Amino acid sequence: MEVPSISNSLLFVFLVALSCSWPVASQGHLHAFRRCLSLHSNSYSAISKVVYTQHNSSYVTILQSSIRNLRFTSSSTPKPLVIVTPVDESQIQATILCAKENGIQIRTRSGGHDYEGLSYASAVPFVVIDLINLSEITIDAKRKIAWVQAGATIGQLYYKISQKSRTLAFPAGTCPTVGVGGHFSGGGYGTLLRKYGLAADNIIDARLVDVNGRILDRKSMGEGLFWAIRGGGGASFGVITAWKLNLVSVPETVTIFSVPRTLEENATALIHKWQYVAPNLPKDMFFQLLALLGQTFPELGVNRQDCTEVSWIRSALASGGYTVEVSPEVLASRIPLTRLYFKAKSDYVQQPIPEDGFKGIWELLYENEADRALMIFTPYGGRMKEIPESEIPFPHRAGNLYKIQHLTYWDEPGMEASKRYINWIRRLYSYMTPYVSKHPRAAYVNIRDLDLGVNNVGNTSYAQASVWGLKYFDKNFNRLVRVKTIVDPSNFFKNEQSIPPVHF
Ligand SMILES: Cc1cc2nc3c(=O)[nH]c(=O)nc-3n(C[C@H](O)[C@H](O)[C@H](O)COP(=O)(O)OP(=O)(O)OC[C@H]3O[C@@H](n4cnc5c(N)ncnc54)[C@H](O)[C@@H]3O)c2cc1C
Ligand SMILES: *[C@@H]1O[C@H](CO)[C@@H](O)[C@H](O)[C@H]1NC(C)=O
Ligand SMILES: *[C@@H]1O[C@H](CO)[C@@H](O)[C@H](O)[C@H]1NC(C)=O
Ligand SMILES: *[C@@H]1O[C@H](CO)[C@@H](O)[C@H](O)[C@H]1NC(C)=O
Ligand SMILES: *[C@@H]1O[C@H](CO)[C@@H](O)[C@H](O)[C@H]1NC(C)=O
Repeated sequence: MEVPSISNSLLFVFLVALSCSWPVASQGHLHAFRRCLSLHSNSYSAISKVVYTQHNSSYVTILQSSIRNLRFTSSSTPKPLVIVTPVDESQIQATILCAKENGIQIRTRSGGHDYEGLSYASAVPFVVIDLINLSEITIDAKRKIAWVQAGATIGQLYYKISQKSRTLAFPAGTCPTVGVGGHFSGGGYGTLLRKYGLAADNIIDARLVDVNGRILDRKSMGEGLFWAIRGGGGASFGVITAWKLNLVSVPETVTIFSVPRTLEENATALIHKWQYVAPNLPKDMFFQLLALLGQTFPELGVNRQDCTEVSWIRSALASGGYTVEVSPEVLASRIPLTRLYFKAKSDYVQQPIPEDGFKGIWELLYENEADRALMIFTPYGGRMKEIPESEIPFPHRAGNLYKIQHLTYWDEPGMEASKRYINWIRRLYSYMTPYVSKHPRAAYVNIRDLDLGVNNVGNTSYAQASVWGLKYFDKNFNRLVRVKTIVDPSNFFKNEQSIPPVHF
């Protein structure tokens, strides 16, 4: 098997030092919440060791440790009353019950890569359950299965698998610091997408703490809820604590390559042709494209690699932005190399875009706000078109040639810069309208985009939610609403784009 890939996640590695001021939050909520924890938990002394208020010196460090988008590190970003970093499920049970009792919202954070910061920011008083210390990984190479706790990163998972076997892998994303909690619950794709589908397609069991503080597995949660958390986003349904995975087979060596082409070198013709070829290649081939025209990032470090034969884990280094020579252990690091401000959007393409269409794209990419912008073209077809649309909530299957992720990055702080860059990506999105899916214009929930619509704070109406819900989930949206209505009728687990319950 070959997995040729134009390495793509080169952008996803940024680090910048920050300094921010932190507003003091309501003390009333906080005292009641902590009192409750002491009552609900037999082991308050143990839970107090993982409860950080704004007075704890490590509060800021922990909060910032997995914020990936600098847009949400400003002093105006609302901060949690408390961060809880549970080391076992009982601490999650206590946190849910006490938050509910005190009218405090919960935001669950695994890897912190949410594009709109929903895992650690909320306009109403809230607690962050940060699963950073719930990250154990157990591999059974013989039976080809694994259990991974929700706070682990995909890089840690890949590394752990590679220590047990050279010919086993798991089909998930390319950026190693992404958390399995958010990523798998929204779908999760990477270089094995055309061969094995999404991460969520390969999940066989899960553990979740529900709104009543019960710990459920696949059997006790039932097939409806188990269906919903594999692609419907975890945040609407409870706190997922672990996933059981089917590992997949990969060959001893895979072939990777990365070929840069400029417009002078006929890149337009190449990308045009790619649309007809890449989605129809054999499943063993994954041929992703990146389009960027502006000032190339020095951070990007694109390595020209013409056909290198490596183990699968070393191919994960290449697609993760590293050189294939470094130790695969770097995949287990939770520290991204760099961080920037960014905004992204996603689109699905069902008919090839004519060459002329690309010329308009290049014009937009030549604008100032696009100096760190890029578009990632991910081919579908293969396994993706075989899996039925309703198998899991992720609906974008047969009929889609490829997906585009539009991204713009910047490094200037402040609202003014933010406005300019976000305005640029909105114009790109508007330009793309005639070329992409319609009715609904589909989007990928893991590339969360609040421009697609938001719920009212404290009130999620079906009509409002269906605006973005149909884009992310299409025909599966209504089934997600039905599951939500059964498992969380009071809508305790909510955010700007959570699934609403409906009461007739
Ligand atoms: C740099 C970067 C690279 C990326 N690369 C890829 C890629 O290659 N392929 C791809 O498919 N996607 C990719 N993504 C998108 C990524 O899949 C999503 O952002 C994903 O939701 C992140 O999961 P997380 O646990 O890191 O994020 P978080 O911010 O922790 O969580 C995201 C959402 O899930 C909820 N959630 C998290 N954990 C749990 C849990 N345990 N139980 C219930 N709800 C939970 C959060 O509340 C939030 O709503 C990338 C994102 C970034 C920023
Ligand atoms: C946070 O600070 C309080 C008060 O100083 C202390 O009792 C508690 O142990 C600290 N929590 C952690 C997790 O260090
Ligand atoms: C995670 O656990 C380790 C080991 O018990 C501990 O040293 C560390 O402080 C914990 N981290 C957080 C953020 O709670
Ligand atoms: C670009 O395409 C033109 C016309 O098809 C061809 O003549 C030329 O050699 C190509 N250039 C490169 C660098 O491939
Ligand atoms: C919730 O939204 C619906 C529809 O927008 C509206 O009719 C209703 O009054 C709202 N309820 C609350 C409590 O705000």
